Amino acid sequence: MVESPLLSISGLRCGYGGKPVLQGVDLTIRAGEITAVIGRNGVGKSTLIKAMIGLLPPSGGSIRFRDRDIGAMSPHVRARLGIGYVPQGRDVFPRMSVEENLRVGESIGGAGAADFDAVYGYFPILRERRRQAAGTLSGGQQQQLAIGRVLIGNPTLVLLDEPSEGIQPSIVQDIARLGVALNRDTGLTIVLVEQNIDMIRAMAQRCYVMDKGRIVAELTPEMLDDRDIVRRHLAV
Ligand SMILES: Nc1ncnc2c1ncn2[C@@H]1O[C@H](COP(=O)(O)OP(=O)(O)O)[C@@H](O)[C@H]1O
Ligand SMILES: [Mg+2]
Repeated sequence: MVESPLLSISGLRCGYGGKPVLQGVDLTIRAGEITAVIGRNGVGKSTLIKAMIGLLPPSGGSIRFRDRDIGAMSPHVRARLGIGYVPQGRDVFPRMSVEENLRVGESIGGAGAADFDAVYGYFPILRERRRQAAGTLSGGQQQQLAIGRVLIGNPTLVLLDEPSEGIQPSIVQDIARLGVALNRDTGLTIVLVEQNIDMIRAMAQRCYVMDKGRIVAELTPEMLDDRDIVRRHLAV
């Protein structure tokens, strides 16, 4: 039996004011997988993620999550349904403590009791710094907090927008390992939008290439093993 997809996007169009960006995106996200969408700057990756969580209204096409049409639902309702969003640039609340940031995630997120111990288990540094203002954390620690803030709401699907941006390579690998562990241990479905080859290779089980507001290719796992092929697709 073929499992129905967790999320399916069809013919999605979206833009800013009169400016079209997404020009008919078709994308299927399978439950329990880590799917990467790669593409160079400005092709519409963040626009796609924002349309998926509901921060931008689509001008055409459909978004279905667990067989419900969510295309007209607010970000808040989508979060309650189990979609977590980690924005590009992280956007932690800098003056609030680490733990207060997690509490915001708890209030936004989906079903079930928030498990602070589980999040602190994945990110020990956040437990250590739980009383510290989030703005004083390093970029990598803020990225961990931004991910933790979403995990605290027990999402089914997490959307990660360029988590490697501005983070040193060793920490990028730590975050990639963590994403893989979460996926393996809890079955969490992850959509990763990235330009960082190392992060893509470390995390992606399936990889699509975006260009000019469309999905234009799929890279097989064998292709992902070849850095030159991945690099070429990031430089289209
Ligand atoms: N708030 C905005 N208003 C107008 N245009 C925008 C806005 N955000 C992004 N864009 C434009 O939309 C296009 C896609 O941007 P984006 O989705 O951020 O690309 P990516 O995440 O792949 O780098 C770019 O041409 C960008 O300049
Ligand atoms: Mg972006």
